[in-house]
Amino acid sequence: MQQAQQAHVGVLPTLARHESRSFVKAFLAKLTRRATGPLALEFEQTVRKRRMVRHFTKGPVGAEVVTRILELAQHAPSAGFSQGSAYVVVTQPEMKRRLAILQGETEYVGAGFHHWISESPVAIIPCVSEKLYHDRYNEPDKLQDGKEIEWPTPYWFFDIGAGCMIILLAAVDAGLAAAFSGATDPAGIRKLVGIPKHFHPVGVISIGHPARDKKSPSLKRGRRPVEQVVHHEKW
Ligand SMILES: Cc1cc2nc3c(=O)[nH]c(=O)nc-3n(C[C@H](O)[C@H](O)[C@H](O)COP(=O)(O)O)c2cc1C
Repeated sequence: MQQAQQAHVGVLPTLARHESRSFVKAFLAKLTRRATGPLALEFEQTVRKRRMVRHFTKGPVGAEVVTRILELAQHAPSAGFSQGSAYVVVTQPEMKRRLAILQGETEYVGAGFHHWISESPVAIIPCVSEKLYHDRYNEPDKLQDGKEIEWPTPYWFFDIGAGCMIILLAAVDAGLAAAFSGATDPAGIRKLVGIPKHFHPVGVISIGHPARDKKSPSLKRGRRPVEQVVHHEKW
């Protein structure tokens, strides 16, 4: 085993004290893969393994894991490097309970799902500010003929999506699971956690240790055949 990996092994007793068995197992599996396999395979496995998991065990998620996941999210690209995304981390049970009500958890439970939003150890609210994009694109290097561009696409939503994708994948990479639920009452969420007016909460990412869950009925549709999705040279 190489020196860097030996250094990682040194943290195992601390990990074992603070993290669940599944987390330590995933960490060990990763070390082994790093020692033997190409990194590209590890990335592919992470992408293929990711799915929305709507049930979590009571296993805790350490604050340092959440910090690392969100630090990675900051590496998402953003138009003009506007960096208009922000995240609110909610761990207090009462706040998660209220958030779950706003996210329609009662309806999910009525449909046979678990209390996945209130019971996840960590809830992250991804937010994006359209205003920060207008501010950025009114800076001299972004003006076109002295004016702000006509936005061909609302890039702020593209950028928060990129940040969310990093969070979803980083959770899997950490041996955890996650699920996104879209915000149906953004104003209610904004009020609950004090989000500034110009930030829009797009939903909630629930993160925790995976438990056996009910799959979304939408999955019955199956993945579209690749030839319907990917077009070469011409559509
Ligand atoms: C923008 C967006 C909004 C979504 N909103 C919800 C939601 O409100 N509730 C939910 O249970 N799943 C939601 N999902 C999850 C999708 O149902 C899920 O990604 C899709 O069925 C494919 O399943 P998979 O992610 O497990 O592969 C959302 C996903 C996206 C990308």
